[in-house]
Amino acid sequence: VGQNLVTIKQVDSTNSFLKNLLSNSTPVSEGTVIMAEEQYAGRGQQQNTWHSEPGKNLTFSLLLKPHFLPPHQQFDLNRAASLGVYDALYPLLGDQLKIKWPNDIYYGDRKLGGMLIENTIQGDSLKDSVVGIGININQENFPEGAANATSVKQILQKDYDLTLILSEICKCIEAHYLKLRAGQTELVRNAYQQHLYWLNEERSFESDSGIFTGMVKNVLPEGLLVIADTNGRQMEFNLKEL
Ligand code: BTN
Repeated sequence: VGQNLVTIKQVDSTNSFLKNLLSNSTPVSEGTVIMAEEQYAGRGQQQNTWHSEPGKNLTFSLLLKPHFLPPHQQFDLNRAASLGVYDALYPLLGDQLKIKWPNDIYYGDRKLGGMLIENTIQGDSLKDSVVGIGININQENFPEGAANATSVKQILQKDYDLTLILSEICKCIEAHYLKLRAGQTELVRNAYQQHLYWLNEERSFESDSGIFTGMVKNVLPEGLLVIADTNGRQMEFNLKEL
């Protein structure tokens, strides 16, 4: 992953760009990374937009071809990608670093980055997976709408080399991806579970049916989040419900 790196000055969204190449049948090899200095229509989870100050942060998409995975295991890609980012940043940031389900990267209670993974399915396996990642590195200030956001610079008061962090992230994602490919799915699932934000802590959650208090218990193989309410009753949520 990352051996073939394409840097673009300005693009709507690196995910859209890569998806366009694929839908035009342009040959793109597995592991190719498209990185943008500036995205003017960056996309986030659930139809959100992703804002990132030009030239300051990492905004990139990488292509995987997980033909060995059946569609019901696609959440393992979210795990592998989250863990890759986690492992790459851990030496810099340490224990405050967490993975917030499904694939946000948090430092303490603040969001450092997120990902948008878009998969295509062919028959009974996955075809292409466009893994789009945005990590705030050198941005110093965030708009009011992103009050929850932070960056490596805000935390460590230092500028970091984007391409260096990028290559570390690619290396670490590849390591987890290769475990999936070798059938070592449990290793990836356990590591993901270990770094989960809010695990066994009482928190308030907002679901479609209102606000409630509960505890994150685990993430099911297919990616549903299990939360226990104060009576110990366990409920399962997908991203649209929570
Ligand atoms: C989220 O937290 O909602 C996910 C944010 C994902 C942003 C990245 S930046 C690179 C790639 N291209 C996009 O348009 N989105 C992802």
